[in-house]
Amino acid sequence: MAFIEKENKNLKHYRQKRIFTASARAAMHFILQSRMHSDPRGILLPSYIGLSKIEGSGVFDPVRTSAMPYDFYHLDQYLRPDMEALEEQLRSDNFQLVFLIHYFGVPQVSVEQFVTLCHRYGVHVIEDCAHTLLGGLEGRRLGTYGDYAIFSIHKSTSCLDGGFLLDHTGSLDSAKMPAHLRIAPATLTEFANTDIESASRQRLRNYHTVTEWLKSLPQLKPLFEKIPTGSVPLNYPIIVSQGKRKLLYHKLIESAIFPTALYHTLIEQITPQRFASSHFVSANILNLPTHADIQQDDLERYEQVLRKVTNEVFSI
Ligand SMILES: Cc1ncc(COP(=O)(O)O)c(C=O)c1O
Repeated sequence: MAFIEKENKNLKHYRQKRIFTASARAAMHFILQSRMHSDPRGILLPSYIGLSKIEGSGVFDPVRTSAMPYDFYHLDQYLRPDMEALEEQLRSDNFQLVFLIHYFGVPQVSVEQFVTLCHRYGVHVIEDCAHTLLGGLEGRRLGTYGDYAIFSIHKSTSCLDGGFLLDHTGSLDSAKMPAHLRIAPATLTEFANTDIESASRQRLRNYHTVTEWLKSLPQLKPLFEKIPTGSVPLNYPIIVSQGKRKLLYHKLIESAIFPTALYHTLIEQITPQRFASSHFVSANILNLPTHADIQQDDLERYEQVLRKVTNEVFSI
């Protein structure tokens, strides 16, 4: 028997046990449904979850439809979890799962420490990587720390739908996944034909370029002071000062630049009384596009427009 074969035969160290789904929310639904069978306890969710009239809530809808009990843990004005308060909730033994969202594709805590804390209380972690396909482009990938991870294909590619999950527990049986939660074959083909790595590098280049611009636009504060090496942000989240978010949003659109505001509306269960910092972010955030369709040639005009519009908005 050969010690070193001529060619690789199984690539077992490189095989990803992805279960492809119709969307990230379908992936979440499948995980929750499966867990509900064996454990009646609930899930702890981060206190920054949006709602849109058209799309509903990508995070909260699967929780609601699964009927799993839930509560929320606190985040600060930079969307960082309050670890002490979280530990208090973990101690209650009311929860089997914690949901950790890597907002805009950027981890806000040491993921390792977060997962270790949850595991100390026997609680499993689902990493939400819906905002990044290649978070951890260098070094350890997001989605490999927790017990499960969910991803959204359409948010980072030209596909119209699609997602996948990673199950590091090995407990999910993909054969049992209902047909409506499965990925469409055309989406899978389109995904396989997309060079995710090059697209991610372009995203990252655009993010760094916008970082440079913002150094001389003090009214627009990056939500993340620094991003960990290898993160691939979905877009560029900023906090717009002086309550001018809405005005800036509309003026940019008038100038043909289309930002988003994730999330301008939070689900009603996250109340301003209990979660003031989440509501602060929600009221002031603007997400500037840094996606991979933005190429080098577009950046000069993008910068000019951003500067012009920002100056206008803040001189009113
Ligand atoms: C953080 C987060 N997780 C999950 C989802 C759901 O993603 P999908 O549209 O693929 O179901 C969304 C978006 O709706 C999201 O913003």
